[in-house]
This record gives sequence, structure tokens and C-alpha cells, in this order.
Amino acid sequence: MELVFATHNEHKLAEIRSLLPKTIRLKSLDDIGCTAEIPETSETLEGNALLKAKYVLDQYGLPCFADDTGLEVAALNGAPGVYSARYAGEPKNEARNVEKLLSQLHGQKDRRAQFTTIIALCMKNETQIFKGVIEGVITKIPKGMNGFGYDPVFQPEGMDKTFAELTLKEKNQLSHRARAFSKLINYLEEIEKE
Ligand code: IMP
Repeated sequence: MELVFATHNEHKLAEIRSLLPKTIRLKSLDDIGCTAEIPETSETLEGNALLKAKYVLDQYGLPCFADDTGLEVAALNGAPGVYSARYAGEPKNEARNVEKLLSQLHGQKDRRAQFTTIIALCMKNETQIFKGVIEGVITKIPKGMNGFGYDPVFQPEGMDKTFAELTLKEKNQLSHRARAFSKLINYLEEIEKE
């Protein structure tokens, strides 16, 4: 089966390709000649993932999956959520996003948060949604040098380290993205057996 991952990120592509059944020929947006930035105009993670995957299916006639991730903070009523990448405004800046988050939570006792990844898989006759979640808390100060985005201030439940203090291998054993992708991979393995 030929399948498109709606991303321009070659690193993400290589990682997921190594995990998929060998019968699946995975292609990126660049591989199919799609150089457009597909607009992510929905107010939900699921809506954005669906927009991207459907765009490829409609424009190129190829089955496609797309992901979207957000950090949802309880005391901020789920913000930054779908706006996580640009929480502190344009242009996207991860250090300023973390700074804004810490200042919004200044003096706040309830520091519960969760990362959610949604993957939408759009094929000719069916659409599937896969979800991965990891719960945790937002620390008072950034800790650790690994990872990206909000990793230095996100401490997963049951651990005394932030995501940025874990190795990539350790993070991949429990992350929201890993959980969502493992559901997608199980699903694709099943349909490739049929
Ligand atoms: P995307 O949908 O994967 O592009 O993620 C949107 C935004 O969420 C990113 O720009 C990051 O700010 C944040 N984010 C997503 N995944 C992670 C993660 O694993 N650690 C920290 N921040 C993340």
C-alpha cells in the first residue's frame, strides 16, 4: 500500500517509516510534489489532523494520515491546546511560549496538564482517528536540555524528571505521540494482513 504522511519533516517521516509494516510505501508531502503549507484553521486538534489528511486524499487521490498535538493545561481551561505552537504569537518561538506558560501559571497551585496527539487516517472509503495522551504537571522552572517545545516544563505523572531530562528513547516509551502512533501502526498491521 502507498500511504502519505502529511508532513514536510523528514525526521518524523524516517522515524515512523522504520516502525511501519514493510508492505507500506510511506511518502512525505515533498515526495508527492505537495509543497503547500496546508492551512490548519480548525479549533480542534482532530479538525486540523482531518483537514491535512483529507486535503491530500482529495487533491492527490492517495490515502494519507496527519497528526496534530497540543498541550492542555487544566488551570487555563485547556489552553494553549490547539494553539500550542504559537501561544506567544507570531513568529513561532518555543522559548517565549514556555515563558508565557510559566507566567500564566505564576502562583497557581493546580499545575495539571496533558499532551494530546491526534492522528487522522483518511482512506477512500473510511476515516480513522487515533489518540495518544500523557498526563503530568507543569514545573515552576524549566529543567533539562533535551527535546523541544514545552519539554523543559512538562513532568509526566509518576516521574521526577521533565521530558527534557529524559533521553529520546525514554520519552518515546511514554509520550503522547508514541501512544497515538502505536495505535496507528497496530491498525495498519491489521489491514495489511487482510
Ligand atoms: P505539532 O502538532 O506536532 O506541530 O505540535 C504543535 C506544538 O505543540 C509544537 O510546536 C510544540 O510547541 C508542542 N509540542 C508538540 N509535541 C511536543 C512534545 O513532545 N514536547 C513538547 N512540546 C510539544
